[in-house]
Amino acid sequence: MLDDIAKTGAQFDRHLAAARNTRELDEVRVRFFSRKSGVIPALFARLKEVPKEQKKDAGDALNKLRDRIENALAQKTERIAAEEASRKETRETLDVTLPAHLPPLGHLHPITIVRRELEDMFLEMGYSLDPGPEVETDWYNFEALNFTPDHPARDMQDTFFLDVDQLLLRTHTSNVQIRSMERWKPPLRVLSCGRVYRHDEITMRKSPVFHQAEGFLVDRGIHIGHLRATLEQFIKRLFGADLGMRMRPSYFPFTEPSAEVDMSCVFCRGKGCGTCSYTGWMEILGSGMIHPQVLRNVGIDPDEWSGFAFGFGLDRAAMIKFDIPNIRTLFENDLRVLQQF
Ligand code: DAH
Repeated sequence: MLDDIAKTGAQFDRHLAAARNTRELDEVRVRFFSRKSGVIPALFARLKEVPKEQKKDAGDALNKLRDRIENALAQKTERIAAEEASRKETRETLDVTLPAHLPPLGHLHPITIVRRELEDMFLEMGYSLDPGPEVETDWYNFEALNFTPDHPARDMQDTFFLDVDQLLLRTHTSNVQIRSMERWKPPLRVLSCGRVYRHDEITMRKSPVFHQAEGFLVDRGIHIGHLRATLEQFIKRLFGADLGMRMRPSYFPFTEPSAEVDMSCVFCRGKGCGTCSYTGWMEILGSGMIHPQVLRNVGIDPDEWSGFAFGFGLDRAAMIKFDIPNIRTLFENDLRVLQQF
């Protein structure tokens, strides 16, 4: 009898080890404990036939085996149930058909939006992009553009001079006219967008650092009609096809003739409102035919070639396009603002 009890213990261990889920564990439980056919009840039944002097030992051994089997079954059942529950939970929460959580997307800055729109338009018209340097010499920023050293027009561009090598921070993107015309032979079409610097107080409309776009074209037989058509194209595409445009005579040292360009006020579409001082117009850029002396300064023969140029404030354009009243908004990089674009 003791032998059979020991064998049953070993048999149980094998069955227990083989059971891999709750169903298989139930089968083991039935095999050993079923009242009708279970191995353990059968052993208890056999106790009756055990001779008296061996009964106590056999009974003790059998009780011990029953307790051990019960415990072992209970423990493994609990463990497997927990494993199955957690597997089920993962299956339920892991819905692979759900759209993935994407990382939050950034936003383009309003100035970048306007710059890219402009660049796309001019690339379509066959222009090349040339950013040019922000740190410049007097020659490229002023003198080659016909601002002689004592030219009063220099006063309009209060300049940051650097301590080294008589360098300065460019006051406009017009320096790129000189740099590009030096580097490439005409015909050429260039658009240049970038930062410019002036020693100005910060106000609602002015900042010591701001952004300009400079466009220029040099070819044979270029006249002011080409300039006008080009400006009209891009103003309408940028701000709306219904807007009018007008050119007013003006003065820049590096263009002759020069024109300031107005477009219909985008807020009242030309009817007249507080923003445009009831004129119906907003000043939007400076332009003109490249001065023959500027062409000569870079070794281009003005009798053979002519060209036009224009300079355009990107900050102002972004403020108009997105109705931003204060230029500071463009430089503070407040996420609550940037997220709107
Ligand atoms: N550079 C001028 C400024 O910053 C803007 C300008 C005017 C650029 C006329 C041009 C131009 O190319 O033709 O005030």
